[in-house]
Amino acid sequence: MAVTIKDIAREANVSITTVSRVINNKNEGVSKETKDKILQIMKRLNYRPNSVARSLVTKKTHTLGLILPDITNPFFPDLVRGVEDTANIYGYNIILCNTDDDIAKEKTYIKVLKEKCIDGIIYTSTIKSENQNVKMLLKYEIPFVMLDRLIDIKGVPYIYADGESGMYEIIRYLIENNHRRIAYISGPMTNHTAIQRFEGYKRAMAEAGLSPDGDLIMEGNYKMRSGYECMSEILKKKKKFTAVACANDLMAVGALECLRESGMKVPDDISVTGYDDIYVSNVVTPKLTTMAQPTYEMGCLAARILIKSIAEENHEKEVKLRPKLVIRESVAKI
Ligand code: RIB
Repeated sequence: MAVTIKDIAREANVSITTVSRVINNKNEGVSKETKDKILQIMKRLNYRPNSVARSLVTKKTHTLGLILPDITNPFFPDLVRGVEDTANIYGYNIILCNTDDDIAKEKTYIKVLKEKCIDGIIYTSTIKSENQNVKMLLKYEIPFVMLDRLIDIKGVPYIYADGESGMYEIIRYLIENNHRRIAYISGPMTNHTAIQRFEGYKRAMAEAGLSPDGDLIMEGNYKMRSGYECMSEILKKKKKFTAVACANDLMAVGALECLRESGMKVPDDISVTGYDDIYVSNVVTPKLTTMAQPTYEMGCLAARILIKSIAEENHEKEVKLRPKLVIRESVAKI
């Protein structure tokens, strides 16, 4: 049977409050001999503070909530690894909440984390990027940071990679390989990351004097199946195009599958690019040219900034990182 704070108080013939003050090093009102007596009894009885009981006093659980939208997407595990490694360095644990891009599930998780008295939350929204749940976080007054998927709210730190310049760069790369009719499979346009990347696509096309053809632009949902379906819809339009840029790697893999099934060779007939540089992009055939997001670094920064925010120390309010072009085999010069 574990020794409790009550056992210590009884043995030392003092109140539980006195023992709690000594455990939490708040010694006002406790004489030195009483404190020494309590410490000796704790040592003799091998007392271990109960973390839940302790957190009731310190109001700190040294636990962070990490809300993510889709753990089936290999983009997110690297983000988790960065958060976890950094949280552990600072003596924090994490509770991972996968929302499956479901707003109701996300709301439930926010309530669960509040009940568990976590010290802060790292928040990556669902593809819908709803404000309602963010308003709940603000109402709960739980310190939180936004990671990767931003929602336009004041005063909340956010860490992300610059999708507009990232997609701009990969479209520039296609144009430098003489592609002019470039199809585009976007992410869900309710989401900041998808909107930013689409802006990058449009800017690169406009700067090259190319006007995007609406029949060659489809909206996906970041899942592999939607890449397949969007590619299929584009092919049905029977419009000429020589390349397709996808707003993430999973949709690019789906598009590769659709092109293969349609008897088209990549990159001989159609060049394909992705975005994220998940491990799959380096094992598919042909290996995918893509943009590598600084995913692990984003996770590390989010944890560090949140922990500084919890400690009310100075911290960055906005961190924008740059993705990097990774050239592999899925783009041909025409
Ligand atoms: O692949 C999933 C996408 O959603 C990634 O590009 C990442 O930015 C996340 O927001």
